[in-house]
Amino acid sequence: MYSNQKHHKQHITKDGIPVDIEQIRKLFIMPESPDKFHEFGNELLDMIHKFFTEKGGIHSSILLPELAKIFSNIDIPENPHRLKDVLYEIKTKIIAHSVKVGNPYYIGHMTSAIPYFMILLEMIIAALNQNQVKIESAKASTFVEKELLAWMHRIIFRRSTKFYKANIQNKDIALGNLTLDGTMANLTALLTARNLAFGPHGRFPGIREAGIAEAYKYYGVDRAVILVSKRGHYSIDKVGRTIGLGNQNVIKIPVDSKNKIDIIKLEKTCRELEETGLNGGPKTKIIAIVGIAGTTETGNIDNLKEIRKIATQYNAFFHVDAAWGGSLLLSDEYRYLFSGIEKADSVTVDAHKLMYAPPSLGMVFFRNGTELRALQHYSNYIIRPDSVDLGRFSVEGSRPFAALKPWATLKIFGKEGFKLIFDYAFELTSVLRGLVEMHCNFEAMNQPELFIFNYRFVPKYVQEQLNKLMSRIQNEDFKDDRNQFIKMEYLNRVEKINLLLNDLNTELHKAIREEDDSFVSRTMIDAPQYFYQDCVVLRAITINPLTTPEILKEIIEQQNKLGLKIYKNYFQSRFEKI
Ligand SMILES: Cc1ncc(COP(=O)(O)O)c(C=O)c1O
Repeated sequence: MYSNQKHHKQHITKDGIPVDIEQIRKLFIMPESPDKFHEFGNELLDMIHKFFTEKGGIHSSILLPELAKIFSNIDIPENPHRLKDVLYEIKTKIIAHSVKVGNPYYIGHMTSAIPYFMILLEMIIAALNQNQVKIESAKASTFVEKELLAWMHRIIFRRSTKFYKANIQNKDIALGNLTLDGTMANLTALLTARNLAFGPHGRFPGIREAGIAEAYKYYGVDRAVILVSKRGHYSIDKVGRTIGLGNQNVIKIPVDSKNKIDIIKLEKTCRELEETGLNGGPKTKIIAIVGIAGTTETGNIDNLKEIRKIATQYNAFFHVDAAWGGSLLLSDEYRYLFSGIEKADSVTVDAHKLMYAPPSLGMVFFRNGTELRALQHYSNYIIRPDSVDLGRFSVEGSRPFAALKPWATLKIFGKEGFKLIFDYAFELTSVLRGLVEMHCNFEAMNQPELFIFNYRFVPKYVQEQLNKLMSRIQNEDFKDDRNQFIKMEYLNRVEKINLLLNDLNTELHKAIREEDDSFVSRTMIDAPQYFYQDCVVLRAITINPLTTPEILKEIIEQQNKLGLKIYKNYFQSRFEKI
């Protein structure tokens, strides 16, 4: 046995814990009798079970400054603590103040309930401690990951059976990557697109070798851009900044009344960029056009078929950000919503969204399986060229065996199980939309496609005023100058009402947070129906299989009560003056 005596002098802490290497080593060794491990495990599982089943407030009532104070100890503990004391601290200081995102009344974010078996899968992942970067630390798990990638690739791209049989475990083909999250998946796709756009050619070694300035010079361009709708997730902006394009070269295309990219404006922008270059202006390379399936704030899906055509016409890479909606392809019934996705060059899907895995796990898929060679790298100590190491094709280095979660879930639920979950989520969304549309004090603010519904509290009196004004704006004849002035006046009043509604809904949202019985999120969208004026909306995401229509009814009734109280106390007279 290793002797620590010449290195460390053993001492005992004031809590009676011996401080010596033998004690520390014991923490790395599974106890010989399983009793001790089970004892710890049972305590832990008990704690988790309680967190899952506990009723009551969603966010815990502790104030943020109090929490900050609890975690403001600037010293790392000098001496070891007992495991059970640390567990107690986790229980009282962390679990007690964690957000109950699995609560069926929590319908505000893409983070929702997870199946309980995920917790057990996380334990297996931790216990195996595989590192997916290389086969030397990830044996079976490398092949599991490749199998999962092929399964998901197939539901997206629907290539031939022969293609999948040949490539599922082909070491030189990367059908995709598992990434930390959707942001990294988008980064992987668009970095690949950039490298392909400025790849090695003739004597030019490619952008990876020569850098951006040389690449632009060689290819004769002054500017490289990515195009996405203004509903694009902010991760696309981050990617633009990260891969050296700059914010101003992530060009935002307007959306139509259904929050989908305006195809005519997309085509026009591409044409103008091309013409500017031909007419002596800066020459622009469109690296990629990004389609969204569905949008983060409104859950809508772009017209992917049309984007494909434009991308082909302008020789641009076509990436689909399906971080939110992509998992729906598991069900053939909803495939029609994503028509054209099979023609994309790459697609992002998040497993921690509609595959109900805990955060975080992104996935990115490439149509041919050869595209990722544009990122390929080697190292002498790992990821050698002739190896099967997954790390040869990824931006990230060390990665956990997170593939186990969706891989096992696909078996436990089957495609049929996922279909049932999605059917139910569609039903919940339609119930909520119905409740809002039937209610005299609420207004629906989008047409939800994928479980994201925006609405706002608009008391009946205000709604009547707003409807009257809108109907006049739309139906009256404003041709002569005097009438133009009247139209301006109507528009002005609509704007004022919407501004005050923004304040009212912000206050309502604060009150919902304070009550803490339920949760919806809040965002601001430029609403097409109000001439793209910025409107504060409540945002509900109805994907928790434990949420019921009755719960949704309770939530709307509670919001109505709170809304009326705030309206009467602080807003009524202000609305009456408009
Ligand atoms: C459409 C879309 N793309 C990308 C992302 C980024 O995903 P992540 O938070 O996993 O990085 C999100 C997150 O909400 C999203 O909705």
